[in-house]
Amino acid sequence: MKAIVYTEFGPPEVLHLAEVEKPAPKDNEVLIRVYAAPVSYGDLTARNFKNISAREFHMPLPLLLPTRMYFGFNKPKINILGSEFAGEIKAVGKQVKLFKTGDQVYGYLGQRMGAYAEYLCMPEGGSLAIKPANMTYAEAAAVPYGAIMATSLLRKGNLQRGHKVLINGASGGIGSAAVQLAKYYGAEVTGVCGAPRMEYVKSLGADRVIDYAKEDFTQNGETYDLIFDILGMSSFLRCKDSLKQNGIYLLASFKTKQLIQMQWTSMIGGKKVICALANEKPEDLVFIRELIEAGKFEAIIDRCYPLEQAAEAHRYVESGLKKGQVVITIDQPS
Ligand SMILES: NC(=O)c1ccc[n+]([C@@H]2O[C@H](COP(=O)([O-])OP(=O)(O)OC[C@H]3O[C@@H](n4cnc5c(N)ncnc54)[C@H](OP(=O)(O)O)[C@@H]3O)[C@@H](O)[C@H]2O)c1
Repeated sequence: MKAIVYTEFGPPEVLHLAEVEKPAPKDNEVLIRVYAAPVSYGDLTARNFKNISAREFHMPLPLLLPTRMYFGFNKPKINILGSEFAGEIKAVGKQVKLFKTGDQVYGYLGQRMGAYAEYLCMPEGGSLAIKPANMTYAEAAAVPYGAIMATSLLRKGNLQRGHKVLINGASGGIGSAAVQLAKYYGAEVTGVCGAPRMEYVKSLGADRVIDYAKEDFTQNGETYDLIFDILGMSSFLRCKDSLKQNGIYLLASFKTKQLIQMQWTSMIGGKKVICALANEKPEDLVFIRELIEAGKFEAIIDRCYPLEQAAEAHRYVESGLKKGQVVITIDQPS
């Protein structure tokens, strides 16, 4: 089968088209013909992992070594990127009960990756669900990562109807899903992002959008029930006065310092820090499909690139110009 392979860490040019062996499903697995796979934060990071410094690693430092062992020190151990996808089931293993050949599905592979290829196999119990009927494969492929992360992490932020929420990093994979979900849950949402993406975040439903280069949201006098910082670019100390009395400072990316703050603030009343890891649940993809089919959640595609131009797709994402998702398509049916 055709796949985009990389055998050394580096810039987009390390990605190249190759013929690799087509996988065969185990008894509990399904074989999926992939039609679309977006370029996500994880793909860019894994492609260049050798050159990611401790500072650029947005997780506690003790996790850097195991992550390097997983992705490889000098050469990548995982050679095909792509953590989310949409496609069609072409074969099922003997024990598979939840899916059948011909099902149109969307799913998330996490750090296992492998979606920049014509085919992939995954267990039927993984983060896999029937794709929303009203979306193209490219649109559906752009949903799982952000939607799973945002659904899971917002749950930990105890979001309630009428809450005031600020999402720092509202234009990215997780943030764009979080804006839509917070609106669905009845919150008043302020999104923070770069100037070129302010209209995009507004179109996702944000009530207010702040350009992080022009305005420091911690200095404008507004207070929130929840501040959700995706990249961990702010700090609890700076955000404290922008939180309501029992407000939550929720982090998708955090270091050891924030873990200590979480411990400390959990012992005293009032404002709390929560550093959370998302749980991947297939039920969340079913929930999101229902929202999509009800017109309450959407995927906005900036550009699609054919598989052969995966390096070009990565270059475009890294240019900082994208407004929405960039998707690699593989002979997507019309
Ligand atoms: N906790 C978990 O379970 C979990 C799971 C997966 C990922 N993560 C973490 O989530 C992060 C990736 O999130 P993502 O996929 O949404 O990333 P992404 O798609 O690259 O989006 C990054 C967002 O951050 C914004 N941003 C950049 N510089 C900023 C600044 N100085 N101030 C405020 N916002 C800024 C970007 O805005 P513009 O593009 O508009 O400039 C964009 O909205 C990683 O750190 C990863 O470790 C955590």
